[in-house]
Amino acid sequence: MIPHKFMIDEPTKAREGQQAALDALSALDYTSTRGVSLSGPTGRGKSYLAGVWSWKMYGNTLKYRVDFADWRELCEYARCRYLDGDDGDEARKAIKVAQQAHVLVLDDFGAGRVTDVIVDLADSLLDYRIQHDYLTVVTTNMGAEEMLAKFGDRVVSRLAGLCDDVAVGGKDWRLV
Ligand SMILES: Nc1ncnc2c1ncn2[C@@H]1O[C@H](COP(=O)(O)OP(=O)(O)O)[C@@H](O)[C@H]1O
Ligand SMILES: [Mg+2]
Repeated sequence: MIPHKFMIDEPTKAREGQQAALDALSALDYTSTRGVSLSGPTGRGKSYLAGVWSWKMYGNTLKYRVDFADWRELCEYARCRYLDGDDGDEARKAIKVAQQAHVLVLDDFGAGRVTDVIVDLADSLLDYRIQHDYLTVVTTNMGAEEMLAKFGDRVVSRLAGLCDDVAVGGKDWRLV
């Protein structure tokens, strides 16, 4: 579900360091098969740019499924997915929604502890999206080396197959 704070209808104005990311997002449409991965330190506006973009994409929601998924939340669902009852049902459903969205924002990818369960989640989710040519936009604070160390080469390779990397510069807007 797209968070309320991103439901902004005015055109997005790029702040310092954001123009490349905004251009890359604006160039995407529903049939794009390669998305972008917005990377950079915290507070640069990565989630904001991807979130507001996903709201624009949501405007065509009768035809396309658009989802904004917080990576930490998805990880929590992955840990609960084999439970019986409502918690398990909810977890399996949330993972399926992210997997099967025509357009998915995966926000703050790599945040939180990366265990085998989490590597499996990343691997299967990204692989599913590649197999179906679904459009994925990622935001992450992780550099390439850290990603490789924590997730291994399969996940890094799948992510490279899904997204072009675009750096977001500028400053920590939460501090100005
Ligand atoms: N272009 C922009 N227009 C308006 N607000 C912005 C813009 N870029 C960033 N912000 C604000 O800056 C803050 C940090 O952005 P956020 O997307 O959370 O950063 P990140 O995901 O890179 O850590 C948020 O409060 C966000 O609303
Ligand atoms: Mg963020």
